[in-house]
Amino acid sequence: MQIVLRPARPEDRARVIEVEAGATPNLQYLPKVFDMFASDPQGEFGVVEVDGTVVACGKLTVVPDGSAWLEALRVMPAYQGLGIGKRFYERFFELARLKGITTMRMYTGLRNVVSKGLAERFGFHLAATYRGAYLPVAGAPGPQQTAPATTVSRTVPTAAGFRQVRDAGRATDLLMSLKERWAGFLVMNRTFYEVTPALSAWLAGRGAVYENPSTGSFVTLDARFMPEQSLHIGVFNGPVEEWLPLAVEKAAAQGAARLQCMFPPTAEDVQAALQACGFMLEPSDCIVMEVRI
Ligand SMILES: CC(C)(COP(=O)(O)OP(=O)(O)OC[C@H]1O[C@@H](n2cnc3c(N)ncnc32)[C@H](O)[C@@H]1OP(=O)(O)O)[C@@H](O)C(=O)NCCC(=O)NCCS
Repeated sequence: MQIVLRPARPEDRARVIEVEAGATPNLQYLPKVFDMFASDPQGEFGVVEVDGTVVACGKLTVVPDGSAWLEALRVMPAYQGLGIGKRFYERFFELARLKGITTMRMYTGLRNVVSKGLAERFGFHLAATYRGAYLPVAGAPGPQQTAPATTVSRTVPTAAGFRQVRDAGRATDLLMSLKERWAGFLVMNRTFYEVTPALSAWLAGRGAVYENPSTGSFVTLDARFMPEQSLHIGVFNGPVEEWLPLAVEKAAAQGAARLQCMFPPTAEDVQAALQACGFMLEPSDCIVMEVRI
């Protein structure tokens, strides 16, 4: 059996999508991001061929603070347990050395013992656990329109009072003040970004940070990709009712079917506040793991 790892090419698209459908039938996003991943100038989207057939893929992405985010690791079920996942990790470490990257992270489901064990084999340790909550958005197109959305559109007050924070220093002050409470990370599209000044500046540049100077409330609203699917609430401070109209408005403007938020289960008040506004919990928690090189 000959295992070859190489960068993905445009013509791998259909096969990579098949690989994902086989490896993670309940989580398929590569049809939407393949082109973006395959043309990433900073990271690498790799595929593994076994005897000339693509059977696996994996991506290293460089995030704003210069660390690496490992994602979309998928091995066709018939080829699992043969060392292909390990081959990807070896490549990730090789890339990290080449690029001077000193921290790498990945996430997986709390119950995915193979994915976690594979990461641990390469020195990764648990950094934090996160819980997801979502709210279908009234008026947005898509399959998620259900009863709670109607409730929200009826009960929320206006979005008045919020302004975009474009200043990196101000965004840094706001976000860093929440870092500990949020267990260190801000999550969008299941990408776990460490809360840092670099991330804050990046988000401010994207127009993703909003504050209400008169109340001190703030929130980040953005999507790394697939904006038509979800608008992601990264972190927030202040009552949900205060920023929710803004989030609903922004989601509707980009055609997002739902709002999504991930938070550490230790932040019980965050969970209670979201649930009180109609957010529903994802069925299982996620873990983020990291290694310092
Ligand atoms: C997770 C996945 C990428 C691993 O790839 P793989 O090619 O099967 O993995 P490999 O054969 O290279 O490595 C297996 C390693 O995983 C770890 N592992 C396997 N089973 C394990 C278990 N039950 N408990 C703990 N660790 C385990 C071990 O470290 C093992 O290496 P070792 O036997 O030499 O110690 C693959 O199974 C997959 O695609 N799963 C579905 C998608 C997925 O879960 N992706 C991960 C991110 S969500």
